[in-house]
Amino acid sequence: MRVLVAGGAGYIGSVAVERLRDDGQDVVVIDNLIKGHRAAVPADVPFHDIDLRDGAAVDRVVSDGRFDAVMHFAALTLVGESVEEPAKYYQANVVGGLTLLESARRADIPRFVFSSTAAVYGEPERLPIREEDPKQPINPYGETKWIIERALEAYSSRYDLNYAAFRYFNVAGATEARGEDHHPETHVIPIALFTLLGKRDKFMIFGTDYPTEDGTAVRDYVHVVDLVDAHVAALGRLDSSLGPINLGTKDGFSVRQIVDAVQRVTGRTLPVVEGPRRAGDPAALIADATRARELLGWEPERSTMDEMIGSAWAWYQAHPEGYRDGLG
Ligand SMILES: NC(=O)c1ccc[n+]([C@@H]2O[C@H](COP(=O)([O-])OP(=O)(O)OC[C@H]3O[C@@H](n4cnc5c(N)ncnc54)[C@H](O)[C@@H]3O)[C@@H](O)[C@H]2O)c1
Repeated sequence: MRVLVAGGAGYIGSVAVERLRDDGQDVVVIDNLIKGHRAAVPADVPFHDIDLRDGAAVDRVVSDGRFDAVMHFAALTLVGESVEEPAKYYQANVVGGLTLLESARRADIPRFVFSSTAAVYGEPERLPIREEDPKQPINPYGETKWIIERALEAYSSRYDLNYAAFRYFNVAGATEARGEDHHPETHVIPIALFTLLGKRDKFMIFGTDYPTEDGTAVRDYVHVVDLVDAHVAALGRLDSSLGPINLGTKDGFSVRQIVDAVQRVTGRTLPVVEGPRRAGDPAALIADATRARELLGWEPERSTMDEMIGSAWAWYQAHPEGYRDGLG
């Protein structure tokens, strides 16, 4: 298959590019490098430094490409920043996403795989969360993803374009060659590991009075390689639309459990401080991934906490400056 990967220089997109290329697929990357890294894309993969909002530039790549599928990972992803600067998020995620989708439609690309998020649910009414549960995003980031999901549904019901919208919960881990190098880094496992590497003084636990077993917030983590497996499986099954699909394990981990696992896996002591809850952080977010299992035969085999932390730790040790400029 010939696959266009938007956001292929980012954390998850670059692991998808690596996998598609290893599988012998023909891959092309679009990324404006606002967050991604050129070095994360193999040198022999065609790369276009293009902003998705530049419709003419996107059209040039898409219309000549004879693509069988688009994987759309490109977005701005920081919840707090989306509250502070909503225009930036509506522009990048909604205008950018719709521009790519419309180019794909005009070029008759039959398959579209979209990176959505658990943030479309907002504060969940029940756990584990199922795809049909209410979508009530509580920040512009989640709202922009939900808008693209709705556009995909409308496009697929009217045009020859089949889609899957994967709602990721938390993503972690690395391959040997590709890891998580966000600036700024906001994810809990990299931050814990950066603290061990001396790049942060202390690891802060935000909230110790949640109604969870140990009082800290609980999240559902999937290894990035398992996540990409689901995308590859979807490519083979998009003869019709698959719709929204949660990707999680239903095994929640609390922040304290992550601290314990980080210490166990690395053999080092993490300096921890406790602070108040952050506004807008739900106590627990856990996915019901039954649809992923049923529709795709998806089994997240690498998503043990030790494997996710161990692979990330190995990547940071092998890449102490990340892809280039240091770890954020
Ligand atoms: N990392 C997670 O835990 C997580 C959780 C839920 C959802 N997601 C979603 O998965 C996707 C990938 O996340 P990630 O962690 O790899 O993020 P990332 O920031 O590492 O990658 C996103 C890539 O998109 C590119 N990009 C952003 N705006 C662009 C634009 N206008 N034009 C062209 N390229 C643009 C960036 O340069 C970057 O390379 C995102 O859509 C994100 O919302 C991630």
